[in-house]
Amino acid sequence: MPFTYTNDHQIYRLDYTAPNFTVEQLALEIDLDPVSTKVTTRFVIDAIDQNIDEYEVRLHGSNELLLATIAIDGQQLDSSEFIFDENDLLIIFTQGQHTVEIINTINPSTNTELSGIYISNGMFCSDCEPQGFRNITYFPDRPDVMTRYRVTLRADQAYPVLLSNGNLIEEGLLENNRHYAIWEDPFPKPTYLFAIVAGNLAYIEDQHIRPNGSPVQLRVYADQKDIDRCDFAMKSLKKAMKWDEERFGLICDLDFYNIVAVDDFNGGAMENKGLNLFNTSCILASPETANDDDFTFVEAVVGHEYFHNWTGNRITLRDWFNLSLKESLTVFREQEFIGTEEHPGVRRVQDVNYLRTHQFPDDQGPLSHAVRPDTLGSIENIYTTTTYEKGAEIIRLYQTILGKEGFDRGFARYIKEFDGQAVTVDDFYQAMKAENPRLFDNFMLWYSQRGTPIVKASTEYHPDKKELRLSLKQYLFDPVTKESKQPMPIPVSYALFSQDGELLLEETFTLTTHQQCLVFHNIDAEPIISLLRGFSAPVMLDYDYSFRELQTLIAYETDYFSKWEALQNLILKVIFARDMTLDQMSEIIGNAVEPLFDYAYEDPAFCAQLLTIPDEGYYLGLMEVEDIFYLRNIRQTIVRYVASRFQDRWLKLYQDFQKDDAESRAIKNIALKFITSLEEYQYLLPEQYYQSSNMTDIGSALKCAVWQDIPEKQAMLDDFYERYQHYSTLIDRWFSVQESDPNLTLDMLDKIVEHPAFTRNNPNRVRAIVGAVGKNRYALAKVGSPLYQWIANEILEIDRINSITAAKLVTPFTKVARLQEPLQSEVIEIIHTMLKAPNISNNLFDQLKRIVQ
Ligand code: ARG
Ligand code: ZN
Repeated sequence: MPFTYTNDHQIYRLDYTAPNFTVEQLALEIDLDPVSTKVTTRFVIDAIDQNIDEYEVRLHGSNELLLATIAIDGQQLDSSEFIFDENDLLIIFTQGQHTVEIINTINPSTNTELSGIYISNGMFCSDCEPQGFRNITYFPDRPDVMTRYRVTLRADQAYPVLLSNGNLIEEGLLENNRHYAIWEDPFPKPTYLFAIVAGNLAYIEDQHIRPNGSPVQLRVYADQKDIDRCDFAMKSLKKAMKWDEERFGLICDLDFYNIVAVDDFNGGAMENKGLNLFNTSCILASPETANDDDFTFVEAVVGHEYFHNWTGNRITLRDWFNLSLKESLTVFREQEFIGTEEHPGVRRVQDVNYLRTHQFPDDQGPLSHAVRPDTLGSIENIYTTTTYEKGAEIIRLYQTILGKEGFDRGFARYIKEFDGQAVTVDDFYQAMKAENPRLFDNFMLWYSQRGTPIVKASTEYHPDKKELRLSLKQYLFDPVTKESKQPMPIPVSYALFSQDGELLLEETFTLTTHQQCLVFHNIDAEPIISLLRGFSAPVMLDYDYSFRELQTLIAYETDYFSKWEALQNLILKVIFARDMTLDQMSEIIGNAVEPLFDYAYEDPAFCAQLLTIPDEGYYLGLMEVEDIFYLRNIRQTIVRYVASRFQDRWLKLYQDFQKDDAESRAIKNIALKFITSLEEYQYLLPEQYYQSSNMTDIGSALKCAVWQDIPEKQAMLDDFYERYQHYSTLIDRWFSVQESDPNLTLDMLDKIVEHPAFTRNNPNRVRAIVGAVGKNRYALAKVGSPLYQWIANEILEIDRINSITAAKLVTPFTKVARLQEPLQSEVIEIIHTMLKAPNISNNLFDQLKRIVQ
């Protein structure tokens, strides 16, 4: 590589030292004002070791803070009595307990990074994970320092609602049209769970009754115009509370639980204690404005944030290297919750599909990192699919290896033993191991080794001995250094079927060494084996199924994932069989699809999942050098073949599934997708679009219209904008549909950037535009480096506004090593130019640097 870039912000896990002090009470007074908010911070600090003469404390700060005064035990310090280490304050205290009082100001109106206290759509709000608290005041901004908070908010009466964590203690009027509210949180918490809101907000209210009969008062706050789209979130919250009681015996510990919808938000949502803040895109839902997937998403995120109250808040993190401790466990809990709410097979398949199309490529590319990394250039950059989704699969591994009961015992022990503490993934392991001594000693390798393991399987049947031999081997290569890594415990669930589809046996075997062999006796005839049922481990399975075996498994597998996977494997086998003609390929896939038309009436939701054409990203990830044109061509030919061979059956499905429920819509819209690949049926797209009032149907028709490039496309897009311009989430969708157009050009992008609804200040809008362009693999390949350059320019512009959001837009650049020449070299050049941009943020720098080094 021509350049080496160094990062001054690199931190190392093993450098961790525990704090040598405690903070007893934290009183915050926040005088809210859009340009100059005064923050008064008072706390009592004490040395842990009472025998030392003095102790040094780092109060984290940032360049957002303007320090006015600092006093210790009532004595104002002059500047010789503390040290500024970059933006942090270092203070040396003499033995024992001291009171610290700091006054500083901040400017919420210029906080476009949306970290700390900022303004969104006229309301004050906050976002502190992981290190936003240092943009509010000077304080030890680390998760292992937990404190009780008392928060006084003062604001103009134009902001009638004043919220913070915990319980409202007092409120009242002040001079100059101002008012105040005092909130106290009974639970000690780390800074990242602190939150405030001040604004003119409407709310809906309900309650949850705990097993002991006491109520929790629940509110969802939103802008007045959005309040009629909050009911579904409220229902989801109540369901989640009940589920956590029933499944894990975990009860809400708060008397008040508030959720607030915020327009400008970096993440999806944030689990602040008793005051969850949600991106509007993850909370608002009505059938007119949200599609069925959005509904499920809202339910999942509401559940996720609520589940954090135990896994994250009551038991929190020692340091940010252990982020996965709370995120993986909470994603796992969220997945289990949705699995009981919705069709379990649909949910599992969607989760696995998501993991394989997003986390697998990430984990095999330059940004690959261990679930619990040893070093980080930016904490922000481990909010990844690896930390969340691969982490959740590792929690699932515990459950698969130990069984549900063993897992539940270990989980209960974890909760009991570590309640109120800041801990690590090792502590979670220890709790599991204490309850399940047989848990493998090398299990923690799943947290320390990055990359996706490969399991290579082969079978041999010996008719003379009536014996089946199964050999399993595992491989793991570090994705960056290419070294071979250590074997890990990999549970492989499998089943044997007879040739005509009878289930003979089902079991789980955990592969613990590099290679193991299993022998099955008394097997009368050669069976069909189905491996990795339920996706029992986050690995790539390499096993050569025959077409016939796959066809049998598609028809007879009783495990949802494996049934779906059999069809996936069949498609893969066809696509990569370079010796087949397109006609042959189409026919094989057509034969496999044929029985599914009847299955649709048996299990419409799951059948819709089977018939969903998978994301090209997954197939691209399996190609040595990406060739989207080849893929797209095959895909279109096959879709048209399957559409035309079964025209009548698709039409019948389309007509039979017109009921107003999600599973009917799922099947109906798949039928629409297939059938409108044929021109004579494309009239159905405007027809459905204009006749429906349900966003699932409207959105599906619009997407297909853009994808198929039908003559009515522009009129439909214009109509959509006209109808929904007052709903920001739908404007986002309107933009992203256009950005995913395979015929996207730079001219089209110029128009988009000039559109009045274009802005770089709102993360959702940025993702809907720049993010969606980055996902448009076809346009990237077709337009080439000018489109990469366009994205690069946008990322740099956005970086100056909001580096957290900018750094997450680099995904298309992470695939650079897989591009064809000369595009590859051109894109590398673009990345180097970005790295040299003046004032590039650390978040963005860290990502780009890892891509080219
Ligand atoms: N803890 C949040 C969650 O529920 C995510 C916070 C993301 N914030 C960020 N700055 N990346 O998953
Ligand atoms: Zn989370």
